Amino acid sequence: MSNYHIKDFEEYFQVYRKSVRNPESFWEEIAEEHFLWRKKWDKVLSWDFSKPEVKWFEGAELNITENCIDRHLATRGDKTAIIFEPNDPKDPAEYISYSELSNRVNKLANVLKAKGIKKGDRVCIYLPMIPELAISLLACARIGAIHSVVFAGFSSTAIATRINDSECKMVITSDGSYRGNKTINLKEIVDEGVDQCPCVESVLVVKRINAAINMKEGRDEWLQPLLDVASADCEAEVMNAEDPLFILYTSGSTGSPKGMLHTTAGYMVYTAFTFKNAFQYREDEVYWCSADIGWITGHSYIVYGPLANGATTLMFEGVPNYPDWSRFWEVIEKHQVNQFYTAPTAIRALAKEKLDYVEKHDLSSLKVLGSVGEPINEEAWHWYNDNIGKKKSPIIDTWWQTETGGILISPIPYVTPTKPTYATLPMPGIQPALMDENGNEIKGNQVDGRLCIKFPWPSMARTIWGNHQRYKDTYFSAFDNKYFTGDGALRDEVGYYRITGRVDDVVIVSGHNLGTAPIEDAINEHPAVAESAIVGFPHDIKGNALYGFVILKEVGEGRDRDNLSNEINQTITEHIGPIAKLDKIQFVVGLPKTRSGKIMRRILRKIASKDFSNFGDISTLLNPDVVQKIQDGAL
Ligand code: PRX
Repeated sequence: MSNYHIKDFEEYFQVYRKSVRNPESFWEEIAEEHFLWRKKWDKVLSWDFSKPEVKWFEGAELNITENCIDRHLATRGDKTAIIFEPNDPKDPAEYISYSELSNRVNKLANVLKAKGIKKGDRVCIYLPMIPELAISLLACARIGAIHSVVFAGFSSTAIATRINDSECKMVITSDGSYRGNKTINLKEIVDEGVDQCPCVESVLVVKRINAAINMKEGRDEWLQPLLDVASADCEAEVMNAEDPLFILYTSGSTGSPKGMLHTTAGYMVYTAFTFKNAFQYREDEVYWCSADIGWITGHSYIVYGPLANGATTLMFEGVPNYPDWSRFWEVIEKHQVNQFYTAPTAIRALAKEKLDYVEKHDLSSLKVLGSVGEPINEEAWHWYNDNIGKKKSPIIDTWWQTETGGILISPIPYVTPTKPTYATLPMPGIQPALMDENGNEIKGNQVDGRLCIKFPWPSMARTIWGNHQRYKDTYFSAFDNKYFTGDGALRDEVGYYRITGRVDDVVIVSGHNLGTAPIEDAINEHPAVAESAIVGFPHDIKGNALYGFVILKEVGEGRDRDNLSNEINQTITEHIGPIAKLDKIQFVVGLPKTRSGKIMRRILRKIASKDFSNFGDISTLLNPDVVQKIQDGAL
């Protein structure tokens, strides 16, 4: 077990050095000791970033659910695998043991099989944070179907785009969801989406809110009656190491969402290893990640990473402010949570509320606090450290991406001395590089540049579903022989990394990765809009918010601007979802453009953040006078 659970700083450096000097033997040792294989690999790693092609544990055979469930049954059958904490604190929590999880996953797997789902088929999952969501992922994995979870806040158009892109045969959804004191009719949203998806043959519906919904004859079925008659035995499909496990869509700076494809063995090994080390999880502890399973954080660190370690993982259906702002702290006290993992945007929102909400709860069970999704600002870091961790629980600021599958840069708690706003040091096996604009690596410390990774790690996405060329162009073309993250970073005097933010047109709003191009495409669908440009600007709680510069077709049209703004946001909600709504909309007469017609977003970003200094040389613009006009309008 020596290199599986790093215990002190010296050991970290030893393990790290070993992982970099000889990555193959490093990962091989971990894979050998800690997992259940049907057949061992022929080769640990083959890779070529110029193609790009990466294969880990080639030739090995396994099923990830045997690692996440079956192998725990003998020793941890009665241990709680999943604690389900419902939206309403008055409803009882559910404690799902490993043996119950096994039964429920197998039953659903048998239902999927009976509905004609086979290895390699894609299944779209659009569910709230209820146990069936985790169970659906695992049931797909049990039979080798590829799950594609779509976050249950996305609109019907967004669902349809994702379903059609990966040609899902089935959708698993529910009659609705609870969100604080609201209910949301998910099935209606699914129906509108699936109407545009000829590939969908069946829709399985979980009953959650007892809503009256439409069931389409021959396509839709309630799930429970099918589960009631299904067998609880289901032989796991034997998967090859590089067989796909799931697709998860993420925004790009341009074009449609990218279906990142993750494969089986490498993803399992890396998420399990990082879960254990980044959270220092120990048997009998309770771990809670407040993300939604609709995002990569939930895939890797609510479902696969924790369960591969036989951990107890908490799923929370609700929101931080229902019934009031003490809900998170109440959950921590109630379930004696030891590791708590959340996003800076939640921390900032919670920090704005009275401290009473925190102080009336006993948080002494906490040992590790995690942060993910966006840079954590100093103020939020200190609030989290002082009031939640009481200065005794290290904060791990974990940097990673949908594409990376697992945490790449993070302190190891009680091992790596933390520093506010710094993700600190790479996890074992991760070789970061900072690059300058000419494509050269910047060596040494106290430098900043574009963050790349020079060597493959097991859980990296292998391609973009159906578009390998785009995978190559997006991640492997900016810098020779390196994976480009799209983020900027600096390395301080001791070699700690601080992520400074995106260097492309992706904006991180409340920890959600939003490409500006698809939002612009949505706005431009509005009949009154001629053209638009969206940029991010700093926001107290969300980290960044979206600012839209919009040119109307008829300037003197006399339409009520407030109404138009609402309609534009409504259009965005319909095409993407409410998370992509604009905080500010400014109607403008033109957009600053280069002579080749490219919008100068750099200038718009400055105007949006009310920084009117130093626009740089604008004389080469096609329309330099427009800058002043936009600026006047922004005041
Ligand atoms: O810009 C970085 C930011 O989130 C991006 C990845 O977003 P997504 O694929 O949705 O995955 C989020 C959850 C893993 C990154 O390119 N980001 C993520 N974590 C951090 C971060 N920025 C700064 N610090 C972090 N800890």
